[in-house]
Amino acid sequence: MRIDIFTLFPEWFEWFTSQRHVRNALASGSRLECVDIRAHTSLSGGQVDDAPFGGGAGMVLRVDVMDSALRARYGVDPVELRARRRVIALSPGGRLLDDALAAELASEPELTLLCGRYEGFDERIIEHFSTEQISIGRYVLSGGELAAMVVCDAVLRKLPAALGHEHSAVEESFSVALDGDPEYPQYTRPAEYRGWRVPDVLLSGHHQQIDQWRRERSRERGRAARGASRR
Ligand code: ADE
Repeated sequence: MRIDIFTLFPEWFEWFTSQRHVRNALASGSRLECVDIRAHTSLSGGQVDDAPFGGGAGMVLRVDVMDSALRARYGVDPVELRARRRVIALSPGGRLLDDALAAELASEPELTLLCGRYEGFDERIIEHFSTEQISIGRYVLSGGELAAMVVCDAVLRKLPAALGHEHSAVEESFSVALDGDPEYPQYTRPAEYRGWRVPDVLLSGHHQQIDQWRRERSRERGRAARGASRR
């Protein structure tokens, strides 16, 4: 999988790409590269944004600068790029990231992520250069960078190479294997700590009973989470 991230802050991703699970994914053939949007402006002083027409607070990322950055990277008119790969604008109002979307993105050979800053993108970037908008939650971050890292993390851990154990991503919270429910509770040694005992069934060695117990706990958690979100 190849992921390109268009950002004004490429150095933020140095920390992210140095994390072990990301390094593992990159070592086994995936690629994550940042394009510094500011390197592609022809405006004086490295200008990349401007005040919104019609007035209002904040600054908006310019469409001409994003056009240049995309064109420089891919050598085509970004309007045509959309037919070839998913170009995702990170935006608080976009489609909410969930496990199914992460899995869908993980099956793509290539992704482009656009990070907005300040008040966001000139709408023409969304309309003409992107295939979709993705949100990591209904709250506003000061830019798309953290959201892009969340998307990359959720996507890369779906690839078999990222995690130590091939099955760890299969039966995890919200996966198809758990019918979209959260993961069951996990315990490790010591079996008893300050009087808090690990459920006996997990120590029993009866795999069928363990599976059944886990499935029930997972369903319970799913019901509780659905109840909480209705409140
Ligand atoms: N940019 C700013 N806030 C965001 C959010 N919640 N999700 C995705 N991108 C964003």
